[in-house]
Amino acid sequence: MGNSQVVVVTGASAGIGRATAQLLGRRGARVGLLARGETGLDGAAADVRAAGGEALAIATDVSDYDAVERAAQRVEERFGRIDAWINVAFSSVFAPFAEIKPEEFRRVTEVSYLGFVYGTMVALKRFRQRNSGVIVQVGSALGERSIPLQSAYCGAKHAINGFTESLRTELMHEKSKVRVTVVQMPAVNTPQFSWVLSRLDKHPQPVPPIYQPELAARGVLHALDHPRRKQYWVGASTVGTILGQRVAPALLDRYLARTGYDSQQTDQKVEPNRAGNLWEPQDGPGGRDYGPHGVFDDRSHRHSAQFWLTRHRRSLVGAGLVGSMFAASSWAQRRR
Ligand SMILES: NC(=O)c1ccc[n+]([C@@H]2O[C@H](COP(=O)([O-])OP(=O)(O)OC[C@H]3O[C@@H](n4cnc5c(N)ncnc54)[C@H](OP(=O)(O)O)[C@@H]3O)[C@@H](O)[C@H]2O)c1
Repeated sequence: MGNSQVVVVTGASAGIGRATAQLLGRRGARVGLLARGETGLDGAAADVRAAGGEALAIATDVSDYDAVERAAQRVEERFGRIDAWINVAFSSVFAPFAEIKPEEFRRVTEVSYLGFVYGTMVALKRFRQRNSGVIVQVGSALGERSIPLQSAYCGAKHAINGFTESLRTELMHEKSKVRVTVVQMPAVNTPQFSWVLSRLDKHPQPVPPIYQPELAARGVLHALDHPRRKQYWVGASTVGTILGQRVAPALLDRYLARTGYDSQQTDQKVEPNRAGNLWEPQDGPGGRDYGPHGVFDDRSHRHSAQFWLTRHRRSLVGAGLVGSMFAASSWAQRRR
């Protein structure tokens, strides 16, 4: 796609969505930024403009289909069209399943699952009409392998894989040029661990190894540029989790039952029932701009060898083939 591509990013005010918007800005893209918190959205728009792109921030709750459709219309009015749609927005509850209230489970599902469904519907409607466009779903290793204390979230992430796979087969049936791809992420250092509703005694943390949101954003942009592949896996831990689940799911059940509570919490005690972002944003008017990073900078990796190999796989295979041909021809010459 060209440099002036028009891309909508949901969940753009913080975390992976914010880092993705920043990278798009560096490409000179025109970016529709969707989230609820106006302080965070203003920060994201300023980042995109400072990086060289154009930005339109639209306060939107992704669990409201009509609001998502209105936001898409505003992006089209401003930038003329939409080339790509990146679903990132989510919320969750960190708690054992038995401690999650029905209305909380429903809300997580409406934001984290239906938010992706609605974004996809709104984008697809436009993309099918002109037979082009890319939808990127920001997924998780936890959409392939559930863990304790995150039942509502894991359910939503699994469901995203489910409906996306179905949609992909429909697009293939139609011989459509519209593409949809999923990027399964590892643990990433984002604000979610400080603002998601939690009933845990201690501060939630991503299960190490932890990566910086800029690495995740590079994964999203790679998928945006190469959307023919069904899924991308970012980070060796994502590969290990997904393959481990395919080979030995019962073993992983036992491992996670034993380690999954401690590995998701630091030693730091927190207020029980801290304010979460499930119903209201924490980066709205009067709130602060959290930005892309969480509080785990000192423990987070900026690079992943696995993801580097994924990105350069074609050139590596090409170099390998050329090398083998060269070796074979020298061997043949020596024999002659
Ligand atoms: N961080 C990780 O370890 C990790 C790992 C694997 C996958 N992921 C995936 O990466 C994506 C982003 O995660 P993150 O860690 O970057 O999250 P985050 O830091 O909590 O940011 C979430 C974003 O979603 C927005 N949002 C929340 N509720 C919303 C709603 N109802 N309507 C619209 N926007 C809403 C938030 O802004 P407002 O609150 O202002 O609306 C914010 O911009 C998610 O899809 C998650 O599944 C993350």
